[in-house]
Amino acid sequence: MTKDDSIFLNKWFSDYCKSFYSLDIEDQKNISLKERHTFKVCENTTAISERLSLNEDQMRLAGTVALFHDIGRFPQYARYKTFRDSISVNHGLLGAETLQEHGTLQSLSPDEQEVVIQAVRFHNAFSVPKNERDDIIFFIKLIRDADKLDIWRVFLEHYEGPEESKASAVGLGLPEMPGYSEDVLAGLYKKKIVSLSTIRTLNDFKLLQLSWIFDLNFTPSFFLLSERRYIDRLTSHLPQTEVIHRLSIFLKEFVKTKTSTLRQ
Ligand SMILES: [Fe+2]
Repeated sequence: MTKDDSIFLNKWFSDYCKSFYSLDIEDQKNISLKERHTFKVCENTTAISERLSLNEDQMRLAGTVALFHDIGRFPQYARYKTFRDSISVNHGLLGAETLQEHGTLQSLSPDEQEVVIQAVRFHNAFSVPKNERDDIIFFIKLIRDADKLDIWRVFLEHYEGPEESKASAVGLGLPEMPGYSEDVLAGLYKKKIVSLSTIRTLNDFKLLQLSWIFDLNFTPSFFLLSERRYIDRLTSHLPQTEVIHRLSIFLKEFVKTKTSTLRQ
């Protein structure tokens, strides 16, 4: 794909977002949240791609995947007024369908189109699919890392920010109860990604977000995670107990092994 293709696609994205802008303050906050998230994921993608020394072509394709990874969020919110897939629609699938419906990617080669469509479709799947082309798997892994690195930012801003600035669709409506589920905590020690279906409280959800560390694919992603101090910042919003303190040390040790034993 060419630089002109990138310029066209960026303009297409920006126009598409604008078509969902609303005079309702709440709705607009939720739409802006996803637009900003997209730009941050594009930045993360560039940061990871540069550290992985991708060539110019691969960088453009990675940027396109990042630009469109959450395109399904816009029609999802318009139709259902929520970002919760479990009560509406899988936004990865909806995103892939949206791009196909609009013929957005038609200036790209068939191979490139396939990469973008599949990466959008699977960016939010529980795990990376196995039966795809190697290049598609690579771009799926890349968007999953870039996305998680920004979802941590979104939630930290949500937990830390003033009430009036909060976008209503960020929370999952989970009860804010003290403590957490023992089996969720045990899953983290097994280095397993916690499934959304097993969580009961907001604290469980925070533990689930920490478990995404075990789903990161590339060494530069672990460096970005460390630089941004996400483990300390996320655990600071959990009960300040010895158990959580020990968990935080365990997670940081894991990240350390990822940043010291592998080539950046
Ligand atoms: Fe997403």
